[in-house]
Amino acid sequence: MDFQLFSKVDRELTELFRLQDPLLKEVLQSIREASLPEHSVSAIQGQFLMQLVRMSKARRIIEIGTLGAYSTIWLARGLDRDGKIISIEVDPRAASLARTNISKAGLQAQVEIIEGDARQKLTSLNDWAVDFVFMDADKASYCDFYNWAVPRMSSGGLIVADNVIREGKILRPDDGDEKVVGVRRYLELLAKEESTVSSVHQQVGEKGYDGFSISLVL
Ligand code: DHB
Ligand code: MG
Repeated sequence: MDFQLFSKVDRELTELFRLQDPLLKEVLQSIREASLPEHSVSAIQGQFLMQLVRMSKARRIIEIGTLGAYSTIWLARGLDRDGKIISIEVDPRAASLARTNISKAGLQAQVEIIEGDARQKLTSLNDWAVDFVFMDADKASYCDFYNWAVPRMSSGGLIVADNVIREGKILRPDDGDEKVVGVRRYLELLAKEESTVSSVHQQVGEKGYDGFSISLVL
């Protein structure tokens, strides 16, 4: 497989559609400078998240795993003015950078960054009705995040999870990589769930070979 070609096409499309504006470039640069993992979604994936938010008319979003708020900004671009995002980040340095980036983006009124472990922080959000969830944090906890979210969502809500393909390693969950085990368990949960209908999308590009799952609440 020609991963260089996939990256080149990704970059070409990002240029052609002018997806990476100066603010988003600055956010990516800030993540690099802070030596945080370069695990933000790609611009094309960001645009896709924005479309999903808009198509589903989501008003209240939970993001689990903020990193430097790159995906958060894309999600916010899909929201109407009265929409809100709560984004949870476990790494204090990332959470602080994310707050700075959200201020730079002028999104303080719409985005709240909560610092801490998502499994604990979510319990303090039990009263929140949610209509869109983007999971991009601890892969071993995806099932827990999903099980928290579904009872708080109504028909038409979406749960999107990043990194559910992991270079195809989900074919061999017994190799002991806990992230692979986590997403494999998550896919198995989605496959048997009756309250949602899910599709899983393999993706290639500058982020390598991975994918999103998209679950629609019935
Ligand atoms: C990893 C996490 C991510 O969210 C991502 O997009 C890529 C890799 C990781 O922890 O390996
Ligand atoms: Mg990810």
